Amino acid sequence: MKFRVPIHLKAIITMIVAIFVYSVIVPAISAPIPGQLYGWYIIATVIAILVYISSTEASWEEFVSPFRALLLGRTALTKPLRIAAFIAVPLICGWYFSSWASGTVSPPGGLRVIHPTPPGSVTFKGTRMKLKDIPTNPLREHEHEADLAKNTEEGKRIYYENCFYCHADDLGGNGHFAKGFNPAPANFQSTGTIAQLTESFLFWRIAKGGPGLPTESTPWDSAMPVWEDYLSDKEIWQVILYLYDAIPYDPRTWGDEDHGGGH
Ligand code: HEC
Repeated sequence: MKFRVPIHLKAIITMIVAIFVYSVIVPAISAPIPGQLYGWYIIATVIAILVYISSTEASWEEFVSPFRALLLGRTALTKPLRIAAFIAVPLICGWYFSSWASGTVSPPGGLRVIHPTPPGSVTFKGTRMKLKDIPTNPLREHEHEADLAKNTEEGKRIYYENCFYCHADDLGGNGHFAKGFNPAPANFQSTGTIAQLTESFLFWRIAKGGPGLPTESTPWDSAMPVWEDYLSDKEIWQVILYLYDAIPYDPRTWGDEDHGGGH
């Protein structure tokens, strides 16, 4: 007697070969197939297999008969199997779709640089600024000294209009929105953030926000907004004045890079 390959085995082997070709052979000889296209290839393969199976009455009958037997549940074997299938299939579908819909939480890969090297110069609203040439907040310079209190007060207003939602009213980084963000908003009261930084570094970070971080700080999704779009350069210098007025540390200056901030 000639051995006939059962139709179900044919279908399964065809499917395995197709998946192997799509996910191993094609990527090896050209490029990986994009996810959505891959889905379409699988659907097309399933349709092709079904067309083949239904091409003759006999093969179709062979293919559906076990399913029919299961659904009818007339024998001692198929009856309990039918119950098991009717419980298992909805459970598997439910589990699959709920895990698919809820997504997965994965930690960010790689190390990220929290205080990256600032660029030598930045363009602020079209004007080029050399950060190294700005040793300190211009509003601390002699000609603005009389207005220092006023500028600091103005910086406080800017802070409470724009920043405290994330950086908190005590500047501790635990504002109303803070829990929603990873990385968390910077805690300005800690010795590890702006106490270590120069005012021009702050100007750069505030002006360019998360999107302006260089590649060594990725991958992370900093929620820090690009304040250049909302504040003038004077307002940014004012808010920086306020930040150092409100915390017990002085900004770093280019000269004292070796010893940290602090009084
Ligand atoms: C939507 C939330 C959000 C708001 C509003 C926000 N920030 Fe931030 N900020 C962050 C996050 C998150 C970080 C930490 C990640 C990073 O460094 O980009 C951060 C970081 C910073 C840093 C860098 C500190 C460091 O140690 O490197 C400074 C400076 C800063 N923010 C200033 C401000 C100022 C000033 C304002 C208001 C004008 C402001 N932020 C408003 C979310 C926010």
